[in-house]
Amino acid sequence: MNKLTKPVIATCVLALMPTASLANDPAKERQELMKSVGDAVKVIVPMAKGEAPYDATAAVEAMKTLNKVPDEFVALFPKGSESGHDTEASPKIWEDPDGFKAKAEDMKKASAQGIEEAGKGVDALNAVTFGPLLKTCKACHDEYRIKKN
Ligand code: HEC
Repeated sequence: MNKLTKPVIATCVLALMPTASLANDPAKERQELMKSVGDAVKVIVPMAKGEAPYDATAAVEAMKTLNKVPDEFVALFPKGSESGHDTEASPKIWEDPDGFKAKAEDMKKASAQGIEEAGKGVDALNAVTFGPLLKTCKACHDEYRIKKN
């Protein structure tokens, strides 16, 4: 190895490090995932209230987005990710992982029902959204999320 390549390699390794840690950063990933949930709900709720034009395709798509989240989400709480990124995850998630997973399963079921119902018209969308769906958010947040600020 000559004198020139050594520092070049060292620089490359350093440059790669932040990327590597970002890719394996569960707290950040689960927050991004929950943001996508927030975005999907922002599509559904105004339609369900009749404040935005009803679009059956968009409503069903948003329900599908929600339905994919729970399985991915519960896998993003490994030991060691209890803090950092201003996480709002409650320590209870690690104390009672089964209870936490059950709440995620409730959201999966409600959004599956949402996929069935969302395309049937505003009333059906309203019923499933303000019936089972949004209750699953609050049920989990009340127990397993510590809201900062
Ligand atoms: C299984 C539990 C669970 C369910 C169900 C759930 N959440 Fe969350 N949510 C969390 C947790 C835990 C956090 C905090 C994650 C963190 O900060 O590490 C969170 C964070 C959020 C955030 C903040 C994301 C950020 O960091 O900017 C939003 C928005 C959100 N949830 C919306 C929703 C909505 C809307 C629903 C229902 C459709 C929902 N959540 C259902 C557990 C859940």
